[in-house]
Amino acid sequence: MDTNPLALLKLSLLWILVDASVMNSLSANDSFSLEPTAPWRPCNESRLQWEVEVCGEDFKKEMDHIKLQYWCNLTHFISEYYRFTQCTEVKSKMVHCYWPNPLVESYIIRIHKHFFSNCTNRQVVYVDPPDKTLTVLILVPVFLTLAMIALVVWCSKRSDILA
Ligand SMILES: *[C@@H]1O[C@H](CO)[C@@H](O)[C@H](O)[C@H]1NC(C)=O
Ligand SMILES: *[C@@H]1O[C@H](CO)[C@@H](O)[C@H](O)[C@H]1NC(C)=O
Ligand SMILES: *[C@@H]1O[C@H](CO)[C@@H](O)[C@H](O)[C@H]1NC(C)=O
Ligand SMILES: *[C@@H]1O[C@H](CO)[C@@H](O)[C@H](O)[C@H]1NC(C)=O
Repeated sequence: MDTNPLALLKLSLLWILVDASVMNSLSANDSFSLEPTAPWRPCNESRLQWEVEVCGEDFKKEMDHIKLQYWCNLTHFISEYYRFTQCTEVKSKMVHCYWPNPLVESYIIRIHKHFFSNCTNRQVVYVDPPDKTLTVLILVPVFLTLAMIALVVWCSKRSDILA
């Protein structure tokens, strides 16, 4: 009966994907006009590791203020959790890394193991959706992202022709 870590893992990946696609579509406009002029710099992974751990420390401090018996109830820490994922995103961009990225994802999984490993399926209210729903929820942002890429490629080709 060890399905819960898997459920949490799925949830975290889901959140990352949904959040990323929302952010992508929201910022599509400005990144589209800014990207060609912004200087390209490589992702500084050692710095990212450090920054993300700072986000994690803040999250741990906030979780300390929440009673232990509420640690499995998402309603009680959703805003803290949201701030934490936002923090990883802001820091990733600050050090010129894509977000989400494998380093951030594995750190988030570590955080989940630390805080939510004891949550049983009964306690966890934000349960695993049925597999079909999950597939749809995962595929929609993936397709949106692909569509955005296709659009960018198409637009740049088009401006080549027009130029
Ligand atoms: C996108 O950019 C155009 C022109 O730069 C601007 O008129 C429009 O308001 C922007 N849309 C959003 C959603 O920011
Ligand atoms: C990455 O960040 C670290 C810590 O801030 C810094 O010491 C290092 O020079 C940076 N590396 C690159 C390639 O910018
Ligand atoms: C989670 O917390 C909310 C708000 O306090 C409460 O209404 C809900 O019943 C809790 N759920 C569980 C499973 O404890
Ligand atoms: C989970 O349970 C173990 C054993 O009961 C305990 O040592 C550990 O501190 C608990 N972890 C959390 C995050 O509650």
